[in-house]
Amino acid sequence: EQKQYFSEKLLSWYRRHKRDLPWRRSRNPYHIWISEIMLQQTRVETVIPYFHRFVDKFPTVEALAEAPEDEVLKAWEGLGYYSRARNLQSAVREVQERYGGVVPDTKEEVFALKGVGPYTAGAILSIAYNKPEPAVDGNVMRVLSRYFLIEEDIMKGSTRVLMEKLAKELIPEGAAGDFNQGLMELGAMVCTPKSPHCLTCPVMLHCSGRAAGMEAELPVKKKA
Ligand code: ADE
Repeated sequence: EQKQYFSEKLLSWYRRHKRDLPWRRSRNPYHIWISEIMLQQTRVETVIPYFHRFVDKFPTVEALAEAPEDEVLKAWEGLGYYSRARNLQSAVREVQERYGGVVPDTKEEVFALKGVGPYTAGAILSIAYNKPEPAVDGNVMRVLSRYFLIEEDIMKGSTRVLMEKLAKELIPEGAAGDFNQGLMELGAMVCTPKSPHCLTCPVMLHCSGRAAGMEAELPVKKKA
């Protein structure tokens, strides 16, 4: 069926073709968390050197919790959106105090941390802990809207809810981290916003958007 095909093909494609990115060499939840916050508004190539320096300077929850704020902001300099760094440090201090420095592994606890929304919570839980939680951002909504020919406006909260439900159903048993990263990777490298590279796509054969000649019109995004 269309869903099972997608899950199996995407997972094996990701395992063969994934880029070697520094945070993909780690399962340390704190390091995954930092990478996801940095990647929220910043491109992968820009993030890489910042990630290395940041983890080097603040290798543990405890180290970041105890660091003076101005040093944290200095390490963030050039990445922009400095509230990300402030929220991250404040959340890391909470993890240090409430959880003894161990990043929690439940949706409720992770989602309650400052600066952590549904996407980031799902990314941390799936990538670091391999928990079957969806991690749906704009890239993932683009991929799903095309493959399943979903014409709902992605600006609507109800569409996100629908996508999260679908994304969760698609997660293969025991492979949440790789599958979610595969979705991100497909969106970044193949199923790109303009002129998607369908001929190299691992799931083109069963893509409903492509079959309808609609891939370039999706996702539907109405102006706010
Ligand atoms: N964008 C958001 N999260 C990412 C990740 N883990 N790898 C690559 N790009 C991303």
